[in-house]
Amino acid sequence: MGQEGRTGMVNQAVSSEDLTSASTGEKGGLPSSALMSTYARFPVAFVRGEGTRLWDETGREYLDFLAGIGVNNLGHCPPTVVAAIRAQAGVLMHTSNLYRIPLQEQVAQRLVGSCFADRVFFCNSGAEANEAAIKLVRKYTQERDRGRERAQTGRFEIITAGNSFHGRTMATLTATGQDKVKRGFEPLVPGFRHVPYNQPEAVEKAITPATAAILVEPIQGEGGIVIPDAGYLPALRAIADRHGLLLVLDEVQTGLGRTGRVWCHEWSGITPDIMTVAKSLAAGLPMGACLATEEVARAFSPGSHGSTFGGSPLVSAAALATLDILLDPDFLAEVSAKGDYLVERLRTLQLRHDMIKTVRGRGLMIAVELNSPAEEVLGVCLSRGLLLSCQLGSTLRFLPPLTVTRAEMDQAVAILDGVLMDSF
Ligand SMILES: Cc1ncc(COP(=O)(O)O)c(C=O)c1O
Repeated sequence: MGQEGRTGMVNQAVSSEDLTSASTGEKGGLPSSALMSTYARFPVAFVRGEGTRLWDETGREYLDFLAGIGVNNLGHCPPTVVAAIRAQAGVLMHTSNLYRIPLQEQVAQRLVGSCFADRVFFCNSGAEANEAAIKLVRKYTQERDRGRERAQTGRFEIITAGNSFHGRTMATLTATGQDKVKRGFEPLVPGFRHVPYNQPEAVEKAITPATAAILVEPIQGEGGIVIPDAGYLPALRAIADRHGLLLVLDEVQTGLGRTGRVWCHEWSGITPDIMTVAKSLAAGLPMGACLATEEVARAFSPGSHGSTFGGSPLVSAAALATLDILLDPDFLAEVSAKGDYLVERLRTLQLRHDMIKTVRGRGLMIAVELNSPAEEVLGVCLSRGLLLSCQLGSTLRFLPPLTVTRAEMDQAVAILDGVLMDSF
């Protein structure tokens, strides 16, 4: 379908009333379901995707500027990944981590070749990757400190940031710096302290004889695309070194090209001791990973940790095809250029709409902060064929596929322009 036809399709869409009411969790008119109600879902079901576009059950077309919350970094159904999955599905999908999995070994090689790490543990999600990191911090620290003076043993605490998001398992929701994620799940896991993000001095003040590590996102994603000062990560690295702590970076949302570098921490010039990854690693199949230096990774031995599905031949084949594209420097340079383009277009929009307070971003991880609640704007955008998400009440989040075109970015900005003009 040509661009013109697509635009037409995108603009004829479902009623915004349906969508905005659903976004607040009211499901008027929706059929009852056997699912647990852990999500306030929009009443739209997508049945097909290609590149930046999705189609719903009625054939309506949408521009996907959320990309499965940063998962579909190569767009929907990227042909080389689809081909790799198809081929591998017909040969071998799953064996067990009781045996060697050569494809998994190849993915690990590609990952360690792209960063500071020497070893990789594979799992199935971001929360699991962070669970692995938390366990590794405890195991490494206990083994390192064994035999030391009593005053230097018993370290297990991890300092994390307010408004952070690290997952929804018991340990990762405890690590998360948002009360709404924890409420009702007490007692929480011991060993986590929260300090304000982007304040290295607060981290230093929070260190006790029990502190083992610092865990942060290089840019806070669920917290509203919060980009710290350039000196923040270097300061955390220095603090960690000074106090004998591990630095753990959660790159679940920022990693794999999202910010225009393979890893977001490359912008800061420092490296962590442990890093977690998931989301787009297998372009839509569930895969997560915890990466670490040789010294730290050595603390894990057979039986320390595991995952039945982690790094199966099927997801590993998908990851190899994904990394072929995501690790290409030319591809990453384009992501940066496209990110600059979208930020500039959104800043131009800001001049026309008082409702836009700020536009910020790095690569294709972009936020438009409004002076008023973003929820309703989000619903109307969806009704006009544009998928975004909203964070902390007033922030619209843009996480388009990294393969997005300039024409698609123009189209998304035009939709948002129309929504702000007509509805608010
Ligand atoms: C930074 C970060 N860490 C961890 C997670 C949890 O990942 P998952 O939902 O795959 O468990 C997310 C999810 O959005 C995330 O953004």
